[in-house]
Amino acid sequence: MAPLRTYASKRSFRPSSPDSAVPPSSSPVAGEKRKRAPLEEEIANVLTPAAKHPKLAPAKSKPRTGTTPKTKSKSTTAKPKYTQLHFNIDQSVLRSCAQCGLSYNKGAPDDEALHKAHCVRVQKGMEWGREEERESFKAGVVEVATDVPLKNGARGRIVSFRADLGGKIGSKISTLLDTVNITLSAPALTTDILRASKVYLFLLPSTPREKIVGCVIAQHISTAMQIATADECRAACEPTSDDGSPPTSSPTAKLVAVDTSTGIFCHPKPLPTPLGIPRLFVPSTHRRQGVASKLLSAAAATFVYGCPLDPRKGQVAFTQPTGDGNAVMQSWGKGGVRIYEE
Ligand SMILES: CC(C)(COP(=O)(O)OP(=O)(O)OC[C@H]1O[C@@H](n2cnc3c(N)ncnc32)[C@H](O)[C@@H]1OP(=O)(O)O)[C@@H](O)C(=O)NCCC(=O)NCCS
Ligand SMILES: [Zn+2]
Repeated sequence: MAPLRTYASKRSFRPSSPDSAVPPSSSPVAGEKRKRAPLEEEIANVLTPAAKHPKLAPAKSKPRTGTTPKTKSKSTTAKPKYTQLHFNIDQSVLRSCAQCGLSYNKGAPDDEALHKAHCVRVQKGMEWGREEERESFKAGVVEVATDVPLKNGARGRIVSFRADLGGKIGSKISTLLDTVNITLSAPALTTDILRASKVYLFLLPSTPREKIVGCVIAQHISTAMQIATADECRAACEPTSDDGSPPTSSPTAKLVAVDTSTGIFCHPKPLPTPLGIPRLFVPSTHRRQGVASKLLSAAAATFVYGCPLDPRKGQVAFTQPTGDGNAVMQSWGKGGVRIYEE
């Protein structure tokens, strides 16, 4: 029973927009179990070219002392020749940041700068700037919820727009999605998916501009699979005969393992499902305030015009969720959320 894989293990570190700053290498904060690339790949993906860090003294090369050079044959009375010894001053070391999970070359200025920018975005989010606001009307940005309360008493608003927008807003979303994809070790969403998707952003008042403190991508899909209940999964693991031999015709044979780390199994039959959630992200300092739940509710309520969707009725599906994503999926969807392949 092969586990369903919805996120590819390979990631692209190429920025999808000119102004997006893609850091050197990454490992996810929350989704590490399923999406993390092997360390070798992480290291291989470090952007900083070796040429920028000249190895002044390769470890195996012997330092030349010059006292008895082999090539010297004509003069036997020459003074001893002193040769400059070289120190290896390359101080770069691969570090893993506890805050954002990113691996980067400490000591390499480019890597450090890229890590710093990524780290701030993962922890605090990005700004919804004056330019984005100015472009909003023309770009068709709609405010779908106003004065939305969070647990800490703060209030914000939720805006929505097409995921394939260009311009300033498109380029901001591109950078945001790069950050999300790096955090999840997920590939970039394809143009086809973006074309069938809407972005939902939670904007919180901040000085001088609003802050994007959460993002949901909502995608039009056609089918998804129903998650098997705990009882169905348990039954699948129970021996059917007295001698303890494995079950022969149990539900296991008919269930699809989504991810062994989250223990989700699905009934493989594709069921008509209108809304898919391929990406969901809240910056770490804004988590557990209800941002993701409010965004998901806004998406379910407005994705199909005039037809609010109910996750408890199986009308919403997630792609292979992370541990945190699974927790939200259960809490928000009350067990009715389905799973689909991206
Ligand atoms: C998953 C994520 C989006 C959740 O965002 P959030 O705004 O903190 O979620 P909410 O506050 O709406 O959580 C609602 C409920 O879900 C459950 N939940 C959410 N995160 C949880 C966690 N880390 N551990 C346990 N339960 C959690 C809780 O029941 C929570 O209610 P509570 O705070 O009253 O206990 C956020 O943790 C995140 O961005 N993680 C990194 C990216 C990721 O894993 N995305 C999911 C892809 S599928
Ligand atoms: Zn960091």
